[in-house]
Amino acid sequence: MEREFGVGIIGTGSYVPSNIMTNKDLEKLVDTSDEWITTRTGIKERRILDKDKSTSFMAKIAAERAIASSGLNSQDIDLIIVATITPDMAFPSTACIVQEELGIKNAAAFDLEAACTGFIYALTNAYAYIKSGIYKNVLVISSENLSKIMDFKDRNTCVLFGDGAGAVVVSQVEADKGILSMDIGADGSGAKFLNQPAGGSLIPSSEESVKNKLHFIKMEGNSVFKFAIKAMTKSSKKVMEDINFTIKDIDYLIPHQANMRIIEGACKRLEIDKDKVCINLDKYGNMSAASIPVALDEAVRSGKIKKNDNIILVGFGGGLTWGATLIKWTL
Ligand code: ACO
Repeated sequence: MEREFGVGIIGTGSYVPSNIMTNKDLEKLVDTSDEWITTRTGIKERRILDKDKSTSFMAKIAAERAIASSGLNSQDIDLIIVATITPDMAFPSTACIVQEELGIKNAAAFDLEAACTGFIYALTNAYAYIKSGIYKNVLVISSENLSKIMDFKDRNTCVLFGDGAGAVVVSQVEADKGILSMDIGADGSGAKFLNQPAGGSLIPSSEESVKNKLHFIKMEGNSVFKFAIKAMTKSSKKVMEDINFTIKDIDYLIPHQANMRIIEGACKRLEIDKDKVCINLDKYGNMSAASIPVALDEAVRSGKIKKNDNIILVGFGGGLTWGATLIKWTL
């Protein structure tokens, strides 16, 4: 009989473009102020990818860093999942493009779309594939080139988002370590609150759709705000309760980085100390699916997260979707 094993993250990597756009820069584009953006969101600056580059460019670099840190050879990867709402193109999947760029020969590859919750959904998929014995080493990448679908004339959205990519390698680890519990959920009745209306089969790209700016992100910020605090709190509690943990057992919480007030609202309800919460939204804004893995990689590389720490990753996003994962860190 095969011995029991856990499933966990064995390598992390990330990439953010070097080009910084500050709140002051945005003051020149729309009627906004550094003061408004800072107090309402906590964001000070974000990264913007060069116009001639795309999601797969950032995904490849983050993935190479994750594979290097895992100690595996890239040919050991047998599945690539890319979580993104900004694929290079509608098809083929960005995962296939990245597979070719990385020169990985024997891996299946697909994209997964769960907006800002994409990384948590992809991690849950990786867990299921490995636990069931279908695959051994899964590369999970979240890469977002949101500046390409941003209306830099709409102050309601353009101040919030940024570009970046994070990646992890998921594999077998010691039994009772790695991913201990998971929760993912969706409520399609909230699809109207956050979307990119054109470019799909409902409203194909046309002169008309571009004129009406339907290829840009649309958002009802207030509705998303209220949902986000509740969803992050509930999902974090669920992954703790499922394994009889309380907030005292948690060493770090890595939330989706959309708005400092959302993070503070959820943390207050969870009664977790502020110094246990990893924040990078001031530097990068909301990078959608990439926010959590970039924050995770930074926390791991800085030495903040240590072996046997219990970590909650928790997010919410368009769909509406939400999800959390509780991990006993193994590196
Ligand atoms: N600068 C200055 N004023 C602004 C700006 C801006 N950038 N944006 C909006 N305002 C104005 C509004 O027009 C409004 O003015 P009015 O009162 O004259 O009408 C006023 O500020 C207040 O607007 P609200 O929308 O009520 O501001 P709020 O405090 O709710 O903050 C925000 C808006 C930051 C968008 C907030 O609602 C939020 O963070 N929501 C969640 C969004 C989110 O998380 N989205 C990402 C989901 S992830 C994904 O799946 C892609």
